[in-house]
Amino acid sequence: MSPRPEATPSVTVRGATAADAALLALVGQATFLESYAGTLGGADILAHCQGQHAPAVYAAWLADPRSRCWLAQAAHGGAPVGYLVLAPAAVPVPDPDPTDLEIKRVYLLHRFQGVGLGRQLIDVAAEQARQAGSRRLLLGVYSQNHAALAFYARTGFQRVGERTFRVGNSDYFDYLLGLAL
Ligand SMILES: CC(C)(COP(=O)(O)OP(=O)(O)OC[C@H]1O[C@@H](n2cnc3c(N)ncnc32)[C@H](O)[C@@H]1OP(=O)(O)O)[C@@H](O)C(=O)NCCC(=O)NCCS
Repeated sequence: MSPRPEATPSVTVRGATAADAALLALVGQATFLESYAGTLGGADILAHCQGQHAPAVYAAWLADPRSRCWLAQAAHGGAPVGYLVLAPAAVPVPDPDPTDLEIKRVYLLHRFQGVGLGRQLIDVAAEQARQAGSRRLLLGVYSQNHAALAFYARTGFQRVGERTFRVGNSDYFDYLLGLAL
């Protein structure tokens, strides 16, 4: 029997290594564009992708022993379809703790959303954070990203603060969320 055309291709998740910086940058830029085209300005998206999703940004996280990245890849062919970056927290919460870790990025290409991969990535990061002695995961999310807010609510995150976040030449209002470990 031939596969259903709408079936999501099989995906594997693994810890990323220094050799994966370009793959992470590629899927980071693709998912940012896909997620925010029609919401944010095109020039801001381009500037953000060129700056914050440059391979060097991912290379720095991959070289930092305090950070971890996971890569989701299509089982057939190995194309990157998503990723998560965990690093020491740098968000302005009112009660920072030195063990706080931050989910800097969790992104999946649209075709790979809604089948449990996001929850799988959060679970892997939470387990890693617990093993590292962290008591809380933090993250910032655009206040108008209602789909992501619903996802974070389903995975147990609660609102702990807010910030403004610069994308290109524009400031956007973010919520800060936390998950007790
Ligand atoms: C946000 C994102 C990582 C979620 O990953 P995902 O694989 O689509 O989510 P999952 O399939 O693992 O869903 C986990 C739970 O969240 C719920 N959920 C996910 N998206 C949802 C939505 N849009 N509305 C309501 N609930 C949602 C699911 O129903 C599921 O609940 P359940 O397990 O209790 O049934 C992914 O959709 C994504 O990459 N989006 C675009 C980029 C983005 O916005 N990233 C976050 C930036 S801060």
